[in-house]
Amino acid sequence: MRKRLGIISFFVMLFIAFITIWNFSYQKGLEEGYITIIEPPSNSYIPSESGVFKRSEHAFDYTKMPVDEQHQRTLETYYNNRAYPGAPPSIPHPVKKELTMGGNVCLQCHQNGGFVEKFNAYAPVTPHPEMVNCRQCHVTQNVQSIFKEIAFYKAKPPSVGSGANNALPGSPPMMPHQLQMRENCLSCHAGPAAPKEIRVTHPERINCRQCHLPTITETAEFGVFVRQSEDHEE
Ligand code: HEC
Ligand code: HEC
Ligand code: HEC
Ligand code: HEC
Repeated sequence: MRKRLGIISFFVMLFIAFITIWNFSYQKGLEEGYITIIEPPSNSYIPSESGVFKRSEHAFDYTKMPVDEQHQRTLETYYNNRAYPGAPPSIPHPVKKELTMGGNVCLQCHQNGGFVEKFNAYAPVTPHPEMVNCRQCHVTQNVQSIFKEIAFYKAKPPSVGSGANNALPGSPPMMPHQLQMRENCLSCHAGPAAPKEIRVTHPERINCRQCHLPTITETAEFGVFVRQSEDHEE
């Protein structure tokens, strides 16, 4: 009887010791979960990444869409409509009311694109449907060549295709452009209005920036402009 009691109390003590040690190491493990977050330096921020997913719901439609060979845009016509690469394109078609700023009138065609019979072309999808005062930045064409009278030197656009932006054949090319106002990749790179040289073969991969990095890495901070005033003293 005494022998059995001794064995039982030995196992009870062993069990208590196990629980104590296990609990101690469990608590220790929890503590390590709290890593102090170090404030990133103010000049190295990640530009918004949510824009990549703005048109993701249309990705599979773009995958299935056949290429309409008759009405494809090229990068040449694309750049011809811009004062320099990245400049707001001019409006190449007539606009009815001279006084409207845009908004819903323009978004009817430019929100999701589609073929427009009277212009015999696909409407390009706007990367920024939220900027509703379209004509604040987009002007109608009055003459064919905007900068005819002066010797305006148009910056050369970055080249694309066959090894221009990738390290190895078959590796993902880097984005030769900035990300500002270009977060919404599918608006320019997918669908029938995308220039054929940059129309993506894989719109369904969704998270473009997982594989494609920008070549421009600087993220300079410009600070807040404060007007200097003579009678202002700290
Ligand atoms: C009836 C449909 C329709 C409406 C409404 C419309 N557009 Fe367009 N837009 C088009 C089509 C189609 C094209 C392509 C024309 C081409 O490639 O020849 C185009 C081209 C453009 C382009 C040139 C894009 C580029 O990548 O070069 C701009 C800028 C533009 N439209 C702005 C506007 C603005 C601003 C409004 C509102 C005032 C507007 N559009 C209203 C159908 C429309
Ligand atoms: C604050 C100025 C601004 C406003 C407002 C604005 N845009 Fe733009 N838009 C731009 C600039 C700049 C570009 C060229 C973007 C680039 O190449 O990175 C552009 C490009 C475009 C393009 C061509 C996209 C492509 O393939 O390059 C279309 C189409 C367009 N805008 C339509 C519109 C419509 C429609 C509206 C109104 C709902 C509008 N924009 C409002 C500045 C503006
Ligand atoms: C306003 C339209 C626009 C948007 C939005 C845009 N791009 Fe581009 N992209 C272009 C144009 C135009 C080119 C051709 C080179 C140039 O002019 O910058 C290009 C070139 C590229 C190339 C090089 C292709 C090659 O064959 O070398 C890649 C990769 C690319 N873009 C990826 C992206 C990704 C990823 C996004 C989203 C984060 C994006 N782009 C958003 C217009 C756009
Ligand atoms: C899993 C990695 C991956 C993802 C995600 C991805 N790409 Fe690509 N991309 C590649 C590779 C690899 C190539 C080179 C293809 C080749 O050479 O055959 C490429 C090529 C391209 C090109 C050059 C033209 C072409 O299609 O070959 C463009 C433009 C482009 N990608 C844009 C995009 C856009 C826009 C997205 C988001 C919808 C995206 N990519 C998502 C890996 C990726």
